[in-house]
Amino acid sequence: MTAPDPHTTHETTAVQTADPNASDQPSPQVPVQQPNHPAPGQIVIPNRDQAPGPARGSKSDSTFGAKKGEHEQTRRIALVNQKGGVGKTTTTATLGTALARMGKRVLLVDLDPQAHLTLHMGIEPDSLEKSIYNLLTDSSLPAATIAQEVGANLVLLPAEVNLAGVEPELASLAASGQAQRVLKDKCDSLLIGCEQGGEPFDFVLIDCPPSLGLLTLNALTLAHEVIVPMQAHFLALQGLSKLLETITLVKQSVNPDLIVAGIILCMHESQTILASEVISDLQSFLTGARDQDLPWRDAVVFDPPIRRNIKLAECPSFGKTIFDYAPGCPGAGDYGRLAQAVADHYARKGS
Ligand SMILES: Nc1ncnc2c1ncn2[C@@H]1O[C@H](COP(=O)(O)OP(=O)(O)OP(=O)(O)O)[C@@H](O)[C@H]1O
Ligand SMILES: [Mg+2]
Repeated sequence: MTAPDPHTTHETTAVQTADPNASDQPSPQVPVQQPNHPAPGQIVIPNRDQAPGPARGSKSDSTFGAKKGEHEQTRRIALVNQKGGVGKTTTTATLGTALARMGKRVLLVDLDPQAHLTLHMGIEPDSLEKSIYNLLTDSSLPAATIAQEVGANLVLLPAEVNLAGVEPELASLAASGQAQRVLKDKCDSLLIGCEQGGEPFDFVLIDCPPSLGLLTLNALTLAHEVIVPMQAHFLALQGLSKLLETITLVKQSVNPDLIVAGIILCMHESQTILASEVISDLQSFLTGARDQDLPWRDAVVFDPPIRRNIKLAECPSFGKTIFDYAPGCPGAGDYGRLAQAVADHYARKGS
């Protein structure tokens, strides 16, 4: 697997949008573009110094790093993989619920027009008066107005299918450089509001669509860290390389603090030779990055992997998480142990 060159700097960079339904398509090209003339279907990521908003280091800076007033331990994690069906939504819902059951306060963000996270958390998208679509398109709407309590310590920013129409609307903001930071600006306010008026969040988990379009770019701009759910297949490694390339570009432009926290192996079949070969390749790739200035230099493969377990596939259709649907099954056990490993990982890292 080839890693992108982190030292390549671009004045501006464009990421070509991928078809969200074409999971196995080649990864997006990342050509250099001029800032004010994006080609059709391309998204311009402004150079860090050209990004609009308050100047870096100013008191009201909302572009770089945690804002004043935010709970300093809030972990903003985007679950990203442009390949479809790898376990992003299942992991967001189940890891988030497991962390909440451990007493962590968790905000789940459904950023996928399929609205699978919303359904998984027991909310019928058609019943929503307002959703993340309204949040992203109505500049006067605060995030708190769409937030739904979906369990103890667990809050959801829900989605409905109309979110599919948001990318063209956001793209109209591309020339001003605002298109990829709308979600961040809205959620910054929510996170600070929680600090002032209620309990702060320990974790923000963002479920991304299977593409590297504007919605995913918004997630990568809001997040401090990326976790990549993936399966141990050869093609998954190719896709990972392209994803890391995009993360590098976002880090070089709008979100310099962005890092890759790690990889979660989903639907894992440990007995296959292919899985062990892919994991071995993955480990040596990550080890090779340790002494380099790369966003994934500290990335880990989280343990345990999540085994394939049919109960995990059944529970969303009942609008239940695995802990309510089949608490004794291997899937519940794996995600429970994973949540402990994730909490320990961040406890070791400190703030
Ligand atoms: N460990 C598992 N064992 C069995 N089935 C699983 C497991 N994890 C996820 N699934 C099922 O696999 C399918 C894909 O999972 P999921 O929806 O989480 O992937 P995704 O990456 O979010 O997909 P998309 O890219 O379409 O958003 C779903 O039907 C889900 O219920
Ligand atoms: Mg999904």
